[in-house]
Amino acid sequence: MAAAVLVVYLAIMAAAALQASSASGAELTADYYSETCPHALTTIKLVVGAAILREPRMGASLVRLHFHDCFVNGCDGSILLDDTDTMIGEKTAQPNNNSVRGYDVIDTIKSAVNMVCLGNVVSCADIVAVAARDSIVALGGSSYDVLLGRRDATTASLDDANNDIPTPFMDLPALQSNFESHGLSLQDLVVLSGGHTLGYSRCLFFRSRLYNETSTLDPAYAASLDERCPVSGDDDELTSLDDTPTTVDTDYYQGLMQGRALLHTDQQLFQGGGGDADDLVKYYADNPSSFWDDFGKAMVKLGNLSPLTGDQGEVRENCRVVNQE
Ligand code: HEM
Ligand SMILES: *[C@@H]1O[C@H](CO)[C@@H](O)[C@H](O)[C@H]1NC(C)=O
Ligand SMILES: *[C@@H]1O[C@H](CO)[C@@H](O)[C@H](O)[C@H]1NC(C)=O
Repeated sequence: MAAAVLVVYLAIMAAAALQASSASGAELTADYYSETCPHALTTIKLVVGAAILREPRMGASLVRLHFHDCFVNGCDGSILLDDTDTMIGEKTAQPNNNSVRGYDVIDTIKSAVNMVCLGNVVSCADIVAVAARDSIVALGGSSYDVLLGRRDATTASLDDANNDIPTPFMDLPALQSNFESHGLSLQDLVVLSGGHTLGYSRCLFFRSRLYNETSTLDPAYAASLDERCPVSGDDDELTSLDDTPTTVDTDYYQGLMQGRALLHTDQQLFQGGGGDADDLVKYYADNPSSFWDDFGKAMVKLGNLSPLTGDQGEVRENCRVVNQE
């Protein structure tokens, strides 16, 4: 009798302990899906690889998608939610509208993963985090372990997206305080800005730099940009953020040191006055292997921003809509 009471007591305590660890602050882990869906990660990698083969820029777009998800209330897949009658989401926020891409690739991954997992197992937020890593690796970056177990938000915030994502018109102090408000240091800012080793910007985001900041612009570079980005018009015309937009390398940092930063914010990281940011840019320009290592570490840090875990949020069946009932 006493033994039976003890067993019941221990079972209750164990259940309570499990609940406590899942309810609050559960940690993300690299092997989160190894039991529940052992083929999840290889499936995501295959779909990302195919998407990049079809259009190399998609790798850049998937990296940026993760950044814009994480900077708005954490890495919770909120950016993927379509507007509804009762909620305007993040997709039409200034930094995202007509700019963030890759939603369709995430949909394809989600369907594929639901199939190989025989059900709705892998969260949309985790898919975005893994797709960013796989894109970086596919385009020549070093691999890193993505920590997993994020759950998906049931809401999204247009206002927070407008307020929390840095604009390309900020000066260094504003960039630093934006990153600080996300728990990220100056070094994280410089390393993560290295994401601009991939992809493109539209003319409207660098026009004011091109015509009003000639003193910090390499003249030959400026001349080449004039054609692509006239004083007015051609707002959507694309120019690559560094010389090699489909390769993860340190050309981005070398460009900054030569006055060949496309965005105002990029040039803010190297102003030639010998500040801490200048030193970091120089360091990464000269040490590609440090960049590859530190970029992976900083992406893990980015991916750890306030995830929903345990029984918070949900695992969305369709990344664009909150689960019904
Ligand atoms: C530091 C503050 C940042 C600012 C102000 C900024 C701003 C921008 C802007 C204005 C564009 C062009 C968008 C367009 O033309 O539609 C862009 C593109 C991009 N950004 Fe950033 N960004 C920042 C940080 C980051 C970070 C941390 C990452 C990733 C780690 C990142 C990854 C990218 C990528 C990959 C693209 C190209 C996307 C594509 O071609 O589809 N950016 N960024
Ligand atoms: C979003 O972009 C579309 C297409 O460029 C435009 O028609 C619309 O007005 C924009 N919405 C917002 C909220 O800026
Ligand atoms: C350059 O700066 C002036 C003064 O701030 C502004 O009126 C003008 O629109 C800017 N030019 C471009 C192309 O952004």
